[in-house]
Amino acid sequence: MHATRMRLVVPQMIHLASYAAALRAGWSADNLRGAAAAAEELAAIQADAPAFIASLTDREARGAPVTLADGRKVPRLPGFRLWLWETQDEAASGPGEQGEFCGSIGFRWQPGTAELPSHVHGHIGYAVVPWKRRRGYATQALAHVLRLARAEGLPWVELTADADNLPSQKVITANGGVQVGEFMEPAAHGGARVLRFRIALR
Ligand SMILES: CC(C)(COP(=O)(O)OP(=O)(O)OC[C@H]1O[C@@H](n2cnc3c(N)ncnc32)[C@H](O)[C@@H]1OP(=O)(O)O)[C@@H](O)C(=O)NCCC(=O)NCCS
Repeated sequence: MHATRMRLVVPQMIHLASYAAALRAGWSADNLRGAAAAAEELAAIQADAPAFIASLTDREARGAPVTLADGRKVPRLPGFRLWLWETQDEAASGPGEQGEFCGSIGFRWQPGTAELPSHVHGHIGYAVVPWKRRRGYATQALAHVLRLARAEGLPWVELTADADNLPSQKVITANGGVQVGEFMEPAAHGGARVLRFRIALR
């Protein structure tokens, strides 16, 4: 059996075919808009793949407004997405392994403050494809992005997880997250009970 390792990559064209395959298999990085978001991304990839890749790294918030689950459009915050990329251990498999997309993690923030607009549920969001779950990948990915958030100068980050999403809560608490509150989603966003966590970075 080949040993595997996961690392985070800045999305590039060489990763795109594997990412698009995950979208076509029914997965989406957007935990709220799911299939609709996946269809939009596939259309964007087909229309202009390099532009799609470029849009995933947007530290200056140059991108188009973001569509919320209720259809409202709001200004984009500075942010970027990294992709979880699994490769076979080279020693075991030899050169030529291209690796495989296995998830996405996004970080967005407001410059100069840890506060977020009320419609933004957390600085960091992540999703792992169903066929690569329970390997510790989300926990590792969050640890990596926390280092980047610290480098950005934020004193803390906030994350949210549905009250019934135990895997996501475990990912957060394994990285030092402490629950600081909870709220109910509006009905248009699913009406779920959501837990709010904070992770101190200083
Ligand atoms: C939440 C999610 C990202 C976790 O990804 P993952 O790579 O499987 O997570 P990890 O392997 O790092 O596991 C984290 C912990 O959750 C546990 N876990 C993972 N899946 C689980 C499941 N289905 N049931 C119970 N526990 C689970 C793991 O055992 C681990 O706990 P441990 O440290 O005590 O062993 C993944 O399930 C997912 O993409 N879900 C859909 C999208 C989502 O909910 N994103 C988060 C929105 S807030």
